[in-house]
Amino acid sequence: MADKTQSTTHFGFETVPEGEKAGRVQGVFSSVANKYDIMNDVMSVGIHRIWKDAMMDWLAPRPGQKLLDVAGGTGDISFRFLKRAGSGHAIVLDLTEPMLVEGRQRAEAASMADSLDWVVGDAMALPFEDNTFDVYTISFGIRNVTRPQEALNEAYRVLKPGGRLMVLEFSQLPNDMMQKAYDLYSFNVIPRMGKLIANDADSYQYLVESIRKFPDQETFLGMVKTAGFENAKYRNLSMGIAALHSGWKI
Ligand SMILES: C[S@@+](CC[C@H](N)C(=O)[O-])C[C@H]1O[C@@H](n2cnc3c(N)ncnc32)[C@H](O)[C@@H]1O
Repeated sequence: MADKTQSTTHFGFETVPEGEKAGRVQGVFSSVANKYDIMNDVMSVGIHRIWKDAMMDWLAPRPGQKLLDVAGGTGDISFRFLKRAGSGHAIVLDLTEPMLVEGRQRAEAASMADSLDWVVGDAMALPFEDNTFDVYTISFGIRNVTRPQEALNEAYRVLKPGGRLMVLEFSQLPNDMMQKAYDLYSFNVIPRMGKLIANDADSYQYLVESIRKFPDQETFLGMVKTAGFENAKYRNLSMGIAALHSGWKI
């Protein structure tokens, strides 16, 4: 078996030993947790809400479904899912406890308390039995996972036959000019906003670098298929700034 402690991966534009990445990612999200929701609105001028709503439109939650929302952070996806489904259950799982603590303090968390659980855990080793969930979501989380293919394999394992995977993640724009304009904004504006609002330029520098390191739409689609998902497809959001990938466990 390969010795994984010797392998390296990327943490933004840095190369780090694989064994260090999760701790560094936890450091970033622990540091931004209490400003995470407001920073999302400011950085994306509210567009992340439209993308998350588009995720729900495609997912079309149904009453009684069981959702596992991995890297669920402060609960945005689970709240939307439960509202749309009308009834059901959601587990928000995240590596970083302070993100879950923030989520639990939100008004929606109190009103949906009977239908929600908050669990600390790792996307690459989910603490659940095989064939447990109807729906698995991961929103702006998978690019932070050390080995994304392992997270997708785990998603497949814990979904019931007939279950649905939906991934929302930053992606790649279709041409160089648009990508350059977007890079100009993200590399110059976002870390400065991070400094101004959260007094933390480094965490936001990591966030924009991690976006550039994530595979493009077609490459990621291949990874979804490799995990075993059928009828795998993607849709671009805002021309490819973000993308939704969907797949089914048949
Ligand atoms: C950008 S936030 C996304 C939060 C939320 N899903 C949203 O869309 O607003 C990324 C989250 O991924 C979590 N995360 C990173 N690596 C993870 C892993 N291996 N397993 C579970 N969660 C992870 C972080 O702790 C963080 O809360």
